[in-house]
Amino acid sequence: MEKQEANSKLQERKMVGRLLLFPLPVQGHINPMLQLANILYSRGFNITIIHTFFNSPNISNYPHFTFEAISKESITGFPTIPGGAAKVIHLNKVCFEPFHDCVERLLSNSSADDRILCLITDALLYFTQDVAEVLKLPRIVLRTSSLAAFHVLYLHPTLLHKGYLSVQDSNSEAPVPEAEPLKVKDISQTYQIEGEDLGMMIAGMMTGTKAASAIVWNTFEELEQSVLPTIQQNFPIPSFTIGPFHKYFTASASSLLEQDKTAISWLDMQAPLSVLYVSFGSVALIDKSEFFEMAWALANSKQKFLWVVRPGVIRGSEWLESFPDGLQEAVSERGHIVKWAPQQEVLAHPATACFWSHCGWNSTLESICEGVPMICSPSFGDQPTNARYVEAVWKVGLVLENGIKREEIERAIRRVMIDQEGKEMRMRMSCLKKKVNLCLMEGGSSYKSLEGLVNFILSL
Ligand code: UDX
Repeated sequence: MEKQEANSKLQERKMVGRLLLFPLPVQGHINPMLQLANILYSRGFNITIIHTFFNSPNISNYPHFTFEAISKESITGFPTIPGGAAKVIHLNKVCFEPFHDCVERLLSNSSADDRILCLITDALLYFTQDVAEVLKLPRIVLRTSSLAAFHVLYLHPTLLHKGYLSVQDSNSEAPVPEAEPLKVKDISQTYQIEGEDLGMMIAGMMTGTKAASAIVWNTFEELEQSVLPTIQQNFPIPSFTIGPFHKYFTASASSLLEQDKTAISWLDMQAPLSVLYVSFGSVALIDKSEFFEMAWALANSKQKFLWVVRPGVIRGSEWLESFPDGLQEAVSERGHIVKWAPQQEVLAHPATACFWSHCGWNSTLESICEGVPMICSPSFGDQPTNARYVEAVWKVGLVLENGIKREEIERAIRRVMIDQEGKEMRMRMSCLKKKVNLCLMEGGSSYKSLEGLVNFILSL
Protein backbone atom coordinates (compact mmCIF):
# COMPACT_ATOMS: atom_id res chain seq x y z
CA MET A 1 0.00 0.00 0.00
CA GLU A 2 2.77 2.38 1.06
CA LYS A 3 4.69 1.54 -2.09
CA GLN A 4 1.62 2.26 -4.19
CA GLU A 5 1.22 5.63 -2.53
CA ALA A 6 4.86 6.47 -3.11
CA ASN A 7 4.54 5.48 -6.76
CA SER A 8 1.48 7.62 -7.25
CA LYS A 9 3.27 10.55 -5.55
CA LEU A 10 6.16 10.07 -7.97
CA GLN A 11 3.68 10.03 -10.81
CA GLU A 12 2.12 13.28 -9.54
CA ARG A 13 5.56 14.86 -9.22
CA LYS A 14 6.41 13.83 -12.77
CA MET A 15 3.24 15.47 -14.00
CA VAL A 16 4.13 18.82 -12.45
CA GLY A 17 7.31 19.28 -14.46
CA ARG A 18 10.94 20.24 -14.10
CA LEU A 19 12.74 23.49 -13.35
CA LEU A 20 16.33 24.27 -14.37
CA LEU A 21 18.13 26.42 -11.80
CA PHE A 22 21.52 28.10 -12.28
CA PRO A 23 23.16 29.91 -9.31
CA LEU A 24 26.03 32.41 -9.43
CA PRO A 25 28.98 30.45 -7.98
CA VAL A 26 29.41 32.54 -4.81
CA GLN A 27 28.37 31.35 -1.33
CA GLY A 28 25.94 34.24 -0.76
CA HIS A 29 24.16 33.38 -4.05
CA ILE A 30 24.41 29.58 -3.94
CA ASN A 31 22.66 29.42 -0.55
CA PRO A 32 19.45 31.22 -1.59
CA MET A 33 19.28 29.40 -4.97
CA LEU A 34 19.51 25.97 -3.33
CA GLN A 35 17.04 27.02 -0.67
CA LEU A 36 14.64 28.12 -3.42
CA ALA A 37 15.22 24.77 -5.16
CA ASN A 38 14.19 22.96 -1.96
CA ILE A 39 11.11 25.15 -1.56
CA LEU A 40 9.97 24.46 -5.13
CA TYR A 41 10.79 20.75 -4.83
CA SER A 42 8.53 20.63 -1.79
CA ARG A 43 5.79 22.06 -3.99
CA GLY A 44 6.10 19.15 -6.42
CA PHE A 45 8.55 20.38 -9.05
CA ASN A 46 11.48 18.27 -10.23
CA ILE A 47 14.75 20.13 -9.95
CA THR A 48 17.89 20.21 -12.05
CA ILE A 49 20.75 22.40 -10.84
CA ILE A 50 23.13 23.57 -13.54
CA HIS A 51 26.44 24.68 -12.03
CA THR A 52 30.00 25.69 -12.84
CA PHE A 53 32.95 23.56 -11.74
CA PHE A 54 34.22 26.47 -9.70
CA ASN A 55 32.49 26.44 -6.28
CA SER A 56 30.29 23.55 -7.36
CA PRO A 57 27.65 22.62 -4.77
CA ASN A 58 27.99 19.57 -2.56
CA ILE A 59 25.88 17.19 -4.62
CA SER A 60 25.66 14.49 -1.92
CA ASN A 61 23.54 16.85 0.22
CA TYR A 62 20.84 16.91 -2.48
CA PRO A 63 20.04 13.33 -3.58
CA HIS A 64 16.58 14.52 -4.67
CA PHE A 65 17.98 16.88 -7.37
CA THR A 66 19.82 16.18 -10.59
CA PHE A 67 22.99 18.16 -11.32
CA GLU A 68 24.58 19.22 -14.59
CA ALA A 69 28.10 20.67 -14.58
CA ILE A 70 28.83 22.94 -17.50
CA SER A 71 32.13 22.73 -19.34
CA LYS A 72 35.24 22.97 -17.18
CA GLU A 73 37.10 25.01 -19.80
CA SER A 74 34.60 27.85 -19.54
CA ILE A 75 35.86 28.93 -16.14
CA THR A 76 39.56 28.27 -16.40
CA GLY A 77 41.38 30.98 -14.50
CA PHE A 78 38.13 32.37 -13.11
CA PRO A 79 39.25 32.74 -9.45
CA THR A 80 42.29 34.81 -10.50
CA ILE A 81 40.27 37.49 -12.32
CA PRO A 82 40.66 40.63 -10.20
CA GLY A 83 37.37 42.12 -9.04
CA GLY A 84 33.85 40.81 -8.47
CA ALA A 85 32.24 42.70 -11.35
CA ALA A 86 34.99 41.57 -13.77
CA LYS A 87 34.37 37.97 -12.64
CA VAL A 88 30.63 38.31 -13.27
CA ILE A 89 31.18 39.85 -16.71
CA HIS A 90 33.60 37.04 -17.56
CA LEU A 91 31.07 34.38 -16.55
CA ASN A 92 28.42 36.05 -18.67
CA LYS A 93 30.72 35.86 -21.69
CA VAL A 94 32.18 32.40 -21.38
CA CYS A 95 29.18 30.47 -20.11
CA PHE A 96 26.85 31.24 -23.00
CA GLU A 97 27.82 28.32 -25.17
CA PRO A 98 28.15 25.56 -22.56
CA PHE A 99 24.96 26.71 -20.81
CA HIS A 100 23.04 26.89 -24.09
CA ASP A 101 24.26 23.43 -25.13
CA CYS A 102 23.39 21.97 -21.75
CA VAL A 103 19.84 23.38 -21.73
CA GLU A 104 19.30 22.38 -25.37
CA ARG A 105 20.36 18.81 -24.58
CA LEU A 106 18.10 18.67 -21.52
CA LEU A 107 15.19 19.97 -23.58
CA SER A 108 15.67 17.40 -26.29
CA ASN A 109 15.94 14.57 -23.73
CA SER A 110 12.93 15.64 -21.68
CA SER A 111 9.73 13.64 -21.77
CA ALA A 112 6.10 14.81 -21.80
CA ASP A 113 5.56 13.71 -18.19
CA ASP A 114 8.68 15.57 -16.96
CA ARG A 115 8.45 18.65 -19.12
CA ILE A 116 10.95 21.46 -18.55
CA LEU A 117 8.82 24.44 -17.53
CA CYS A 118 11.34 27.26 -17.16
CA LEU A 119 14.78 28.46 -16.20
CA ILE A 120 15.39 30.12 -12.83
CA THR A 121 18.74 31.91 -12.88
CA ASP A 122 20.59 34.47 -10.78
CA ALA A 123 19.95 38.07 -11.88
CA LEU A 124 23.70 38.54 -12.32
CA LEU A 125 23.80 35.71 -14.89
CA TYR A 126 22.00 37.96 -17.34
CA PHE A 127 23.31 36.12 -20.43
CA THR A 128 20.83 33.35 -19.57
CA GLN A 129 18.04 35.63 -20.79
CA ASP A 130 19.51 35.39 -24.32
CA VAL A 131 19.71 31.61 -24.02
CA ALA A 132 16.10 31.53 -22.81
CA GLU A 133 15.00 33.56 -25.83
CA VAL A 134 16.98 31.45 -28.32
CA LEU A 135 15.53 28.23 -26.87
CA LYS A 136 12.05 29.73 -26.33
CA LEU A 137 12.02 28.82 -22.66
CA PRO A 138 10.64 31.26 -20.06
CA ARG A 139 13.21 32.61 -17.57
CA ILE A 140 12.47 33.64 -14.00
CA VAL A 141 15.11 35.76 -12.28
CA LEU A 142 16.22 35.14 -8.72
CA ARG A 143 17.56 38.34 -7.17
CA THR A 144 19.33 37.46 -3.96
CA SER A 145 19.63 41.01 -2.55
CA SER A 146 17.09 43.18 -0.78
CA LEU A 147 14.64 45.20 -2.89
CA ALA A 148 16.23 48.39 -1.55
CA ALA A 149 19.75 47.43 -2.62
CA PHE A 150 18.49 46.42 -6.06
CA HIS A 151 16.80 49.79 -6.39
CA VAL A 152 20.05 51.60 -5.51
CA LEU A 153 21.74 49.70 -8.36
CA TYR A 154 18.82 50.57 -10.65
CA LEU A 155 19.55 54.23 -9.87
CA HIS A 156 23.16 53.88 -11.10
CA PRO A 157 22.71 55.99 -14.29
CA THR A 158 20.91 58.75 -12.34
CA LEU A 159 23.49 58.80 -9.56
CA LEU A 160 26.29 58.84 -12.13
CA HIS A 161 24.63 61.68 -14.05
CA LYS A 162 24.13 63.73 -10.87
CA GLY A 163 27.79 63.40 -9.94
CA TYR A 164 27.38 61.29 -6.78
CA LEU A 165 29.90 58.77 -8.10
CA SER A 166 32.65 61.33 -8.53
CA VAL A 167 32.26 63.31 -5.30
CA GLN A 168 35.53 64.50 -3.79
CA ASP A 169 34.51 63.78 -0.22
CA SER A 170 33.75 60.08 -0.14
CA ASN A 171 33.02 60.40 3.61
CA SER A 172 30.27 62.95 3.14
CA GLU A 173 27.33 62.54 5.51
CA ALA A 174 25.07 64.53 3.14
CA PRO A 175 21.75 62.83 2.33
CA VAL A 176 20.93 61.50 -1.14
CA PRO A 177 17.32 62.53 -1.82
CA GLU A 178 17.10 60.11 -4.79
CA ALA A 179 17.99 57.15 -2.56
CA GLU A 180 16.76 57.90 0.95
CA PRO A 181 17.91 57.10 3.63
CA LEU A 182 21.36 56.66 2.07
CA LYS A 183 24.16 59.17 2.57
CA VAL A 184 26.64 60.25 -0.09
CA LYS A 185 29.30 58.08 1.53
CA ASP A 186 27.05 55.01 1.19
CA ILE A 187 26.81 55.64 -2.54
CA SER A 188 30.60 56.04 -2.78
CA GLN A 189 31.04 52.76 -0.93
CA THR A 190 28.46 50.94 -3.04
CA TYR A 191 30.20 51.88 -6.23
CA GLN A 192 33.74 52.35 -4.89
CA ILE A 193 35.47 49.85 -7.10
CA GLU A 194 35.60 48.78 -10.70
CA GLY A 195 33.79 51.81 -12.14
CA GLU A 196 33.34 50.72 -15.74
CA ASP A 197 32.97 47.00 -15.09
CA LEU A 198 30.42 47.69 -12.38
CA GLY A 199 28.40 49.90 -14.73
CA MET A 200 28.42 47.18 -17.39
CA MET A 201 27.44 44.49 -14.91
CA ILE A 202 24.55 46.53 -13.54
CA ALA A 203 23.29 47.45 -17.02
CA GLY A 204 23.39 43.77 -18.03
CA MET A 205 21.50 42.73 -14.92
CA MET A 206 18.82 45.41 -15.38
CA THR A 207 18.25 44.61 -19.08
CA GLY A 208 18.18 40.87 -18.40
CA THR A 209 15.73 41.30 -15.53
CA LYS A 210 13.38 43.59 -17.48
CA ALA A 211 13.16 41.01 -20.28
CA ALA A 212 12.46 38.09 -17.90
CA SER A 213 9.05 36.57 -17.15
CA ALA A 214 9.11 37.24 -13.39
CA ILE A 215 11.38 38.00 -10.41
CA VAL A 216 11.68 36.03 -7.18
CA TRP A 217 13.05 37.87 -4.12
CA ASN A 218 14.50 36.56 -0.90
CA THR A 219 12.71 39.12 1.22
CA PHE A 220 9.24 39.63 2.69
CA GLU A 221 6.65 42.27 2.03
CA GLU A 222 6.38 43.65 5.57
CA LEU A 223 10.12 44.35 5.69
CA GLU A 224 10.34 46.30 2.45
CA GLN A 225 6.84 47.63 1.92
CA SER A 226 8.14 51.09 1.04
CA VAL A 227 10.26 49.89 -1.91
CA LEU A 228 8.02 47.23 -3.49
CA PRO A 229 5.74 49.63 -5.45
CA THR A 230 8.79 51.37 -6.99
CA ILE A 231 10.25 48.03 -8.06
CA GLN A 232 6.92 46.98 -9.54
CA GLN A 233 6.72 50.24 -11.44
CA ASN A 234 10.26 49.92 -12.83
CA PHE A 235 9.90 46.20 -13.58
CA PRO A 236 6.31 45.62 -14.70
CA ILE A 237 6.53 41.82 -14.48
CA PRO A 238 5.30 39.69 -11.59
CA SER A 239 7.46 40.06 -8.45
CA PHE A 240 7.26 37.28 -5.86
CA THR A 241 8.53 38.15 -2.37
CA ILE A 242 8.55 34.68 -0.84
CA GLY A 243 11.43 34.98 1.69
CA PRO A 244 13.14 34.48 3.99
CA PHE A 245 14.04 31.28 2.14
CA HIS A 246 16.12 29.70 4.89
CA LYS A 247 13.12 29.66 7.26
CA TYR A 248 11.28 27.04 5.19
CA PHE A 249 13.69 24.28 6.24
CA THR A 250 16.08 23.84 9.13
CA ALA A 251 19.87 24.05 8.67
CA SER A 252 21.48 24.94 5.39
CA ALA A 253 23.28 22.14 3.54
CA SER A 254 24.81 24.43 0.93
CA SER A 255 27.87 25.63 2.84
CA LEU A 256 31.00 25.40 0.69
CA LEU A 257 33.28 25.47 3.75
CA GLU A 258 33.13 23.05 6.64
CA GLN A 259 31.19 24.56 9.54
CA ASP A 260 33.04 24.27 12.85
CA LYS A 261 30.55 22.82 15.36
CA THR A 262 32.72 23.85 18.33
CA ALA A 263 31.08 27.24 17.82
CA ILE A 264 27.87 25.73 19.23
CA SER A 265 29.46 23.74 22.05
CA TRP A 266 31.32 26.92 23.09
CA LEU A 267 28.07 28.94 22.97
CA ASP A 268 26.38 26.26 25.09
CA MET A 269 28.75 27.19 27.93
CA GLN A 270 27.93 30.92 27.82
CA ALA A 271 25.22 32.87 29.64
CA PRO A 272 22.06 33.92 27.75
CA LEU A 273 22.50 37.08 25.62
CA SER A 274 26.18 37.43 26.51
CA VAL A 275 28.02 36.80 23.23
CA LEU A 276 28.93 39.04 20.31
CA TYR A 277 29.08 37.06 17.05
CA VAL A 278 31.50 38.46 14.44
CA SER A 279 31.57 37.42 10.79
CA PHE A 280 32.16 39.23 7.50
CA GLY A 281 30.73 36.57 5.14
CA SER A 282 32.42 34.78 2.29
CA VAL A 283 33.75 37.58 0.07
CA ALA A 284 34.74 40.72 2.05
CA LEU A 285 38.44 41.24 2.83
CA ILE A 286 40.13 43.27 5.57
CA ASP A 287 43.64 44.73 5.94
CA LYS A 288 46.02 43.59 8.66
CA SER A 289 45.65 46.94 10.41
CA GLU A 290 41.84 46.50 10.48
CA PHE A 291 42.28 42.99 11.85
CA PHE A 292 44.41 44.38 14.71
CA GLU A 293 41.82 47.07 15.44
CA MET A 294 39.11 44.39 15.55
CA ALA A 295 41.16 42.19 17.86
CA TRP A 296 41.99 45.08 20.24
CA ALA A 297 38.40 46.25 20.30
CA LEU A 298 37.15 42.74 21.08
CA ALA A 299 39.76 42.26 23.80
CA ASN A 300 39.01 45.69 25.33
CA SER A 301 35.22 45.32 25.13
CA LYS A 302 35.25 42.81 28.01
CA GLN A 303 32.42 40.94 26.29
CA LYS A 304 32.42 37.30 25.23
CA PHE A 305 32.70 36.86 21.48
CA LEU A 306 32.60 34.21 18.77
CA TRP A 307 34.73 35.35 15.83
CA VAL A 308 34.74 33.83 12.35
CA VAL A 309 38.15 34.50 10.79
CA ARG A 310 37.74 32.96 7.35
CA PRO A 311 41.06 31.74 5.89
CA GLY A 312 42.20 34.44 3.45
CA VAL A 313 39.96 37.18 4.88
CA ILE A 314 43.03 39.15 6.02
CA ARG A 315 44.87 40.50 2.98
CA GLY A 316 48.37 39.00 2.82
CA SER A 317 47.75 36.36 5.55
CA GLU A 318 46.66 32.77 5.35
CA TRP A 319 44.90 32.77 8.69
CA LEU A 320 45.92 33.91 12.18
CA GLU A 321 49.69 34.04 11.77
CA SER A 322 49.64 37.84 11.89
CA PHE A 323 48.18 38.01 15.40
CA PRO A 324 50.35 40.46 17.39
CA ASP A 325 52.19 39.10 20.44
CA GLY A 326 50.18 39.35 23.61
CA LEU A 327 46.91 39.95 21.85
CA GLN A 328 46.12 36.30 21.22
CA GLU A 329 46.13 35.61 24.97
CA ALA A 330 43.91 38.62 25.63
CA VAL A 331 41.51 37.48 22.92
CA SER A 332 41.44 33.81 23.88
CA GLU A 333 40.40 34.66 27.45
CA ARG A 334 37.03 35.94 26.28
CA GLY A 335 36.61 34.63 22.77
CA HIS A 336 36.40 31.61 20.52
CA ILE A 337 37.75 31.86 16.98
CA VAL A 338 36.66 29.55 14.15
CA LYS A 339 37.29 29.46 10.40
CA TRP A 340 33.61 29.07 9.48
CA ALA A 341 30.56 28.68 11.71
CA PRO A 342 27.09 27.15 11.38
CA GLN A 343 25.83 30.75 11.22
CA GLN A 344 22.09 30.16 11.35
CA GLU A 345 22.48 27.99 14.45
CA VAL A 346 24.79 30.57 16.02
CA LEU A 347 22.26 33.36 15.48
CA ALA A 348 19.44 31.21 16.87
CA HIS A 349 21.45 30.33 20.00
CA PRO A 350 20.17 31.86 23.26
CA ALA A 351 23.71 33.05 24.17
CA THR A 352 24.02 35.26 21.06
CA ALA A 353 23.30 38.91 21.85
CA CYS A 354 24.61 40.86 18.87
CA PHE A 355 25.92 40.26 15.33
CA TRP A 356 28.82 42.39 14.06
CA SER A 357 28.45 41.82 10.33
CA HIS A 358 29.49 43.07 6.87
CA CYS A 359 25.73 43.13 6.14
CA GLY A 360 25.58 40.75 3.21
CA TRP A 361 21.87 40.21 2.56
CA ASN A 362 21.82 36.60 3.79
CA SER A 363 23.52 37.56 7.05
CA THR A 364 21.18 40.53 7.51
CA LEU A 365 18.06 38.42 6.91
CA GLU A 366 19.35 35.62 9.13
CA SER A 367 19.92 38.12 11.95
CA ILE A 368 16.43 39.59 11.51
CA CYS A 369 14.90 36.10 11.56
CA GLU A 370 16.53 35.37 14.92
CA GLY A 371 15.88 38.80 16.42
CA VAL A 372 19.59 39.62 16.89
CA PRO A 373 20.55 43.34 16.75
CA MET A 374 23.52 44.26 14.56
CA ILE A 375 26.71 46.28 14.35
CA CYS A 376 27.36 46.99 10.69
CA SER A 377 30.69 47.19 8.84
CA PRO A 378 29.59 47.25 5.21
CA SER A 379 32.23 46.85 2.58
CA PHE A 380 30.80 47.19 -0.97
CA GLY A 381 27.85 46.48 -3.27
CA ASP A 382 24.54 45.92 -1.51
CA GLN A 383 26.10 46.01 1.96
CA PRO A 384 26.03 49.82 2.56
CA THR A 385 22.31 49.90 1.68
CA ASN A 386 21.51 46.96 3.96
CA ALA A 387 23.50 48.59 6.77
CA ARG A 388 21.73 51.93 6.37
CA TYR A 389 18.33 50.19 6.48
CA VAL A 390 19.37 48.30 9.63
CA GLU A 391 20.24 51.58 11.32
CA ALA A 392 17.86 54.18 9.90
CA VAL A 393 14.75 52.31 8.70
CA TRP A 394 14.35 49.26 10.91
CA LYS A 395 16.38 50.83 13.77
CA VAL A 396 17.78 47.47 14.83
CA GLY A 397 21.50 48.22 14.82
CA LEU A 398 24.34 50.68 14.33
CA VAL A 399 26.67 51.46 11.44
CA LEU A 400 30.37 51.94 12.22
CA GLU A 401 30.62 55.26 10.41
CA ASN A 402 34.41 55.59 10.33
CA GLY A 403 35.59 52.20 9.19
CA ILE A 404 37.20 49.81 11.64
CA LYS A 405 38.57 51.86 14.56
CA ARG A 406 38.87 50.32 17.99
CA GLU A 407 37.35 53.14 20.08
CA GLU A 408 34.29 53.38 17.85
CA ILE A 409 33.87 49.60 17.85
CA GLU A 410 34.12 49.44 21.65
CA ARG A 411 31.50 52.20 21.94
CA ALA A 412 29.20 50.40 19.50
CA ILE A 413 29.54 47.10 21.38
CA ARG A 414 28.59 48.86 24.61
CA ARG A 415 25.65 50.65 23.00
CA VAL A 416 24.16 47.48 21.50
CA MET A 417 25.03 44.92 24.19
CA ILE A 418 24.70 46.93 27.41
CA ASP A 419 22.90 50.26 27.02
CA GLN A 420 19.17 50.92 26.99
CA GLU A 421 19.24 51.79 23.26
CA GLY A 422 20.51 48.24 22.58
CA LYS A 423 17.54 46.82 24.50
CA GLU A 424 15.21 48.92 22.35
CA MET A 425 16.92 47.63 19.19
CA ARG A 426 16.41 44.08 20.44
CA MET A 427 12.70 44.78 21.00
CA ARG A 428 12.31 46.11 17.46
CA MET A 429 14.21 43.06 16.16
CA SER A 430 11.81 40.80 18.08
CA CYS A 431 8.90 42.53 16.34
CA LEU A 432 10.50 41.85 12.95
CA LYS A 433 11.11 38.24 13.97
CA LYS A 434 7.40 37.89 14.78
CA LYS A 435 6.54 39.37 11.38
CA VAL A 436 8.79 36.79 9.71
CA ASN A 437 6.93 33.97 11.42
CA LEU A 438 3.56 35.43 10.45
CA CYS A 439 4.46 36.02 6.80
CA LEU A 440 5.34 32.34 6.36
CA MET A 441 2.15 31.01 7.96
CA GLU A 442 -0.92 30.09 5.92
CA GLY A 443 -2.45 33.33 4.67
CA GLY A 444 0.77 35.32 5.35
CA SER A 445 2.35 37.50 2.66
CA SER A 446 5.23 35.15 1.71
CA TYR A 447 2.93 32.12 1.89
CA LYS A 448 0.51 33.75 -0.56
CA SER A 449 3.35 34.94 -2.77
CA LEU A 450 4.71 31.39 -2.99
CA GLU A 451 1.23 30.15 -3.98
CA GLY A 452 1.28 32.84 -6.66
CA LEU A 453 4.72 31.75 -7.89
CA VAL A 454 3.72 28.08 -8.10
CA ASN A 455 0.58 28.95 -10.06
CA PHE A 456 2.56 31.30 -12.28
CA ILE A 457 5.09 28.57 -13.15
CA LEU A 458 2.28 26.10 -13.83
CA SER A 459 0.69 28.61 -16.19
CA LEU A 460 3.83 28.98 -18.34
C1 UDX B 1 27.79 37.97 -1.16
C2 UDX B 1 27.88 39.50 -0.99
O1 UDX B 1 29.09 39.85 -0.34
C3 UDX B 1 26.68 40.02 -0.25
O2 UDX B 1 26.79 41.42 -0.07
C4 UDX B 1 25.45 39.71 -1.05
O3 UDX B 1 24.30 40.16 -0.37
C5 UDX B 1 25.37 38.21 -1.29
O4 UDX B 1 26.57 37.73 -1.89
P1 UDX B 1 28.51 37.03 1.33
O5 UDX B 1 29.54 38.08 1.45
O6 UDX B 1 28.95 35.64 1.43
O7 UDX B 1 27.62 37.23 0.01
O8 UDX B 1 27.48 37.36 2.53
P2 UDX B 1 26.04 36.88 2.92
O9 UDX B 1 25.03 37.32 1.94
O10 UDX B 1 25.85 37.34 4.29
O11 UDX B 1 26.10 35.29 2.87
C6 UDX B 1 26.94 34.53 3.68
C7 UDX B 1 26.29 33.18 3.91
O12 UDX B 1 27.29 32.32 4.45
C8 UDX B 1 25.15 33.23 4.92
O13 UDX B 1 24.08 32.42 4.48
C9 UDX B 1 25.74 32.68 6.19
O14 UDX B 1 24.84 31.96 7.00
C10 UDX B 1 26.83 31.76 5.67
N1 UDX B 1 27.94 31.70 6.64
C11 UDX B 1 28.69 32.80 6.91
C12 UDX B 1 28.18 30.51 7.27
O15 UDX B 1 27.49 29.51 7.05
N2 UDX B 1 29.20 30.48 8.18
C13 UDX B 1 29.99 31.54 8.46
O16 UDX B 1 30.90 31.41 9.28
C14 UDX B 1 29.71 32.75 7.80
